Amino acid sequence: MRSRRTACLAEKTLFRELGIPVPEFAAVATRAELDQALAMVGVPCILKTRRPGYDGKGQYRIRTLADADAAWAALGAQAAAVGLIVEAFVPFERELSVVAVRGRDGEFRTWPLTENWHVDGVLSASLAPAQVDAALADTATGYARRLAERMDYVGVFALELFCRDGQLLANELAPRVHNSGHWTIEGAETSQFQNHLRAVLGLPLGVPAMRGHACMLNWIGAMPDAGPVLAEAGGHWHDYGKEPRGGRKVGHATLRTDAPLELAAALERGG
Ligand SMILES: Nc1ncnc2c1ncn2[C@@H]1O[C@H](COP(=O)(O)OP(=O)(O)OP(=O)(O)O)[C@@H](O)[C@H]1O
Ligand SMILES: [Mg+2]
Repeated sequence: MRSRRTACLAEKTLFRELGIPVPEFAAVATRAELDQALAMVGVPCILKTRRPGYDGKGQYRIRTLADADAAWAALGAQAAAVGLIVEAFVPFERELSVVAVRGRDGEFRTWPLTENWHVDGVLSASLAPAQVDAALADTATGYARRLAERMDYVGVFALELFCRDGQLLANELAPRVHNSGHWTIEGAETSQFQNHLRAVLGLPLGVPAMRGHACMLNWIGAMPDAGPVLAEAGGHWHDYGKEPRGGRKVGHATLRTDAPLELAAALERGG
């Protein structure tokens, strides 16, 4: 599922306005502003196009000030059309997402917090429920609720978060069903897809409770052999029928078990 970075700057400004911490950032429209932004935000940092962006596209990692020219050569052409943003690089311990749904009547629900792993900016694996303490999960859910209520949002969305030194920083909001919620198809009483439809149709929302433990693995580039996953009792296979291409999400698998230790064992065998 493609998730486009929509109006990154407005998004981060809204996060701040709602008291949701974000990585340090600065808007960039010209080469001179890039230098100013680097002085303000510091290095390492990431130069991002404000839109569209997905799977880490439209991003350039700036490790030292000497990388500024190369970053501008890569993305500067898009500065006039869509604008750029410089964002501090967050040396996070983990990435988490809240997948949430809000109905037409304002009813708000979230699936259990999900932990995510990215490789080269592309989601590789998601695990739910994330092993975090209740206070952190409440904070994350509270941020999602605040955003949904401010926007009078209806439907499913995901709030992507970095966790650093035990504190949450918001990365982005994806206003749609989200790749980090694909595990809900088999791992939750109601999937994100079903609840999105219920929300927009004005139907009562389904319970987003977990059915045990789930891990989703994205297949990137080409589909692997389905055998090991299909041999698992809780193994589920999704082939998107796409042509193989480097970096492209072509399918995913979800392993679901009742207990976390079973999930670890199933991942050893099937993942
Ligand atoms: N400021 C940052 N510090 C550290 N890592 C980052 C930062 N920004 C992005 N990343 C890494 O790159 C990944 C993709 O970034 P981001 O979510 O901004 O991009 P995207 O292209 O919109 O991706 P998608 O919409 O597919 O999630 C993040 O999940 C994270 O792993
Ligand atoms: Mg993202």
